[in-house]
Amino acid sequence: MDTAGRLQGPTYKHAGTNAAPYELMTVRKLTPVIGAEIGNIDLSQPLTDAQFAEVSRALAENQVIFFRDQHLTMDRHDAFGRLFGELHEHPAAPSAPGHPGMMLIHADKDSPRADGEGWHSDVSCDPVPPLGSILYIRTCPDLGGDTLFASMYAAYETLSDRMKTYLEGLTALHVGDYRGVYAHHGVKDKDTSPSAVHPVVRVHPMTGRKCLYVNKGFTRRIVGLPRDESEGVLRFLYDHMANPLFQCRFQWRENSIAFWDNRCVQHRAMWDYWPNTRSGYRVTVRGEVPIGASQV
Ligand code: SIN
Repeated sequence: MDTAGRLQGPTYKHAGTNAAPYELMTVRKLTPVIGAEIGNIDLSQPLTDAQFAEVSRALAENQVIFFRDQHLTMDRHDAFGRLFGELHEHPAAPSAPGHPGMMLIHADKDSPRADGEGWHSDVSCDPVPPLGSILYIRTCPDLGGDTLFASMYAAYETLSDRMKTYLEGLTALHVGDYRGVYAHHGVKDKDTSPSAVHPVVRVHPMTGRKCLYVNKGFTRRIVGLPRDESEGVLRFLYDHMANPLFQCRFQWRENSIAFWDNRCVQHRAMWDYWPNTRSGYRVTVRGEVPIGASQV
């Protein structure tokens, strides 16, 4: 970003049109920076290798992709996730019977909270955090319940060179404190609070682009810094990441799917629809140990 706040550098270079056309499906960008709606594909059917390659490319190019009017059984939802890797089992959240990798996402008039209300990257407290998440919403209110997505490439690429140099090589502690979080779904507290140390700036294994990898939901502190400095740097980064220039906003309709790349995207769900019901399932695909910008 220049001193006038204009997007420049790699974010600008990657924005706009795709390098090559898509042959099998349509890809309509939601913003120049992040998000695209995919058309002309039926995820209830097994994908051909060529379709899988185009979906993978669309995810890499847009960081989060959306599908409308999909009618998937749980087995098909599960199978779509498995195309991209093994499924991740959430350390605490309830899952669908017989589908340990399928997390319930549900809020209604009796809910004390909704999932994902603050900015986060899913389960970044895991030593091997997820590649991506595929959320299939079956029931949603007529209005509200949108999800916001923010590009952590754009957040990184718009920092000053001085700040990039400062952050490179730093690591941060991520902790998942799930005590009581799923009590309203009848889940008894498990004796688990997963934690991991990850690079503050990670390199995406597919695109090679650098992105910020700290988030308000899970990151506790930057390792090796005095506490007030760590808090100050994280506060600055969280404010910076929340710039709407780096975001897209998805308005759900029943039978829509969002597939986001947790390695370079943070998201935040809006619980503005109480007492209405919003419900679906998410499969989460296992990723890899994050590689830091100073390790490549
Ligand atoms: C989540 O996976 O964090 C929930 C996202 C949503 O409900 O939109």
